[in-house]
Amino acid sequence: MNETHPFDPNLEIPQHVAIIMDGNGRWAKERGLKRTDGHHEGLKAIRRVAVAASQIGVKILTVYAFSTENWKRPRSEVSYLMKLPNLMEAELLPELIENNVQVKIMGDKGSVPKYTIQSIDNAIDKTKENTGLILNIAFNYGSRAEIVEAVKEIAGEVKFGHLDPDSIDEDTISHHLMTQQLAPYNDPDFLIRSSGEVRLSNYLLWQLAYSEMYFIDTKWPDFDKKTFLSCIGEYQSRQRRYGGLK
Ligand code: FPP
Repeated sequence: MNETHPFDPNLEIPQHVAIIMDGNGRWAKERGLKRTDGHHEGLKAIRRVAVAASQIGVKILTVYAFSTENWKRPRSEVSYLMKLPNLMEAELLPELIENNVQVKIMGDKGSVPKYTIQSIDNAIDKTKENTGLILNIAFNYGSRAEIVEAVKEIAGEVKFGHLDPDSIDEDTISHHLMTQQLAPYNDPDFLIRSSGEVRLSNYLLWQLAYSEMYFIDTKWPDFDKKTFLSCIGEYQSRQRRYGGLK
């Protein structure tokens, strides 16, 4: 376990927290279980962390549930990962609704099975009036593909004379990314990656430009409120400078 800093409810709470939920497979292997059992436990960890985040006043939690690269995994595992939204609907949604959480999704819906999309759409629909924490699930998401799509849209606007190329700035790019649905909190303040791996894995490459990052050894299925609060304590110990001096 990494050294922890105490969480202080009176200090700044990050408004947008992004998480790479890593270590499900290794967690399961250590226990002689199937990798898919690790993903199932990972779903329960989302519930614990979403409730904790909502209690302390985090506005947005963006979690990496399925990356565009995850299609390379064995067919049986991909097929289980595609069923996770169905499990989420059955096992997570009632408690999310109880906690006033609003579910949003970002990613490419093409090539995702219909039954998966249906559960995702149900979760979005059943929580759309909720006003608390936004649980933004990155599903079939890849940051480079997201940037390519944004560039294509911007190029199209230029081509049809709706946009002057000289007026393109950072906001133009930002507004064309999938995180625009989270405006005005498009960019995470804080990124957490579990299980000791130190890389971004094609996650929110543009949006994480100035985020604080924390790589914690705990594997995702072991994540609970205490772990999450200790991560927030770590965030509170940082001094954000955005390239300037303080
Ligand atoms: C990475 O661990 C985790 C994933 C690829 C899946 C994460 C998904 C969940 C926690 C469930 C959430 C789903 C929804 C729809 C809310 P890994 O398998 O790469 O672990 P390893 O590095 O130990 O092998």
